[in-house]
Amino acid sequence: MKENLEKERDFFELKSKQEKGLDFIKIFGNVNPVHLEIGCGRGEFLIQKALNLPDGNFLGIEFKEKRIKIILRKLDFKLHKNVRIMKLFVDENLKKCIPEKSISKIYIIHPDPWPKRKHHKNRLINDRFVGVLSEILKPDGRLEIATDHAEYAEWIINLFAARKDFVSEYENGYSSIPVEGHIETYFEMKKRQEGFKPIFMEFKKKSV
Ligand SMILES: C[S@@+](CC[C@H](N)C(=O)[O-])C[C@H]1O[C@@H](n2cnc3c(N)ncnc32)[C@H](O)[C@@H]1O
Repeated sequence: MKENLEKERDFFELKSKQEKGLDFIKIFGNVNPVHLEIGCGRGEFLIQKALNLPDGNFLGIEFKEKRIKIILRKLDFKLHKNVRIMKLFVDENLKKCIPEKSISKIYIIHPDPWPKRKHHKNRLINDRFVGVLSEILKPDGRLEIATDHAEYAEWIINLFAARKDFVSEYENGYSSIPVEGHIETYFEMKKRQEGFKPIFMEFKKKSV
């Protein structure tokens, strides 16, 4: 197992303190669509997606150092040229480092549900934050969300139903069948074994 991760960090890690925002063409050396995963955990979804879609560029954001190190141990200079990671606690400040209309697809896979009512204020997905996602997405860009927490799913579906800038790809706002190309993470598999059923949502950013 890799222990010294300095070289991997230099290549794969982006710094969030970018005065003018990240320049993806410079970073990846191409104009391919940029996919963003928020809360990428141990990187299973991010890394497999990037392998499956070599014509896409993938940025994963995670705030826990331990998980960043787990991802760095998995990354290989030859196999994962189209992957970058960033250590950041994501909130509305995301728009300071991600330029407007620069992202083709956003994934939020099993965000922390903060089940207690008094903790709902900590939920990543709220109206103001979705406003930020709307700004960084390209017109017709997609946002995929998965959760096995039924009440959080309902909160998300209702939130998007009230917005004018997104349209659900599903008539009811959700599906119990994974979005095409979905990667099941260890977290999702464990929760399924415990009896939780994931709910999948996909929203399209309207072009006007
Ligand atoms: C329940 S885990 C799911 C991880 C992964 N998506 C999966 O399906 O295995 C949620 C992850 O989001 C990260 N996270 C939660 N809030 C975050 C935030 N505001 N900014 C960045 N990462 C966050 C957590 O550290 C954790 O790794």
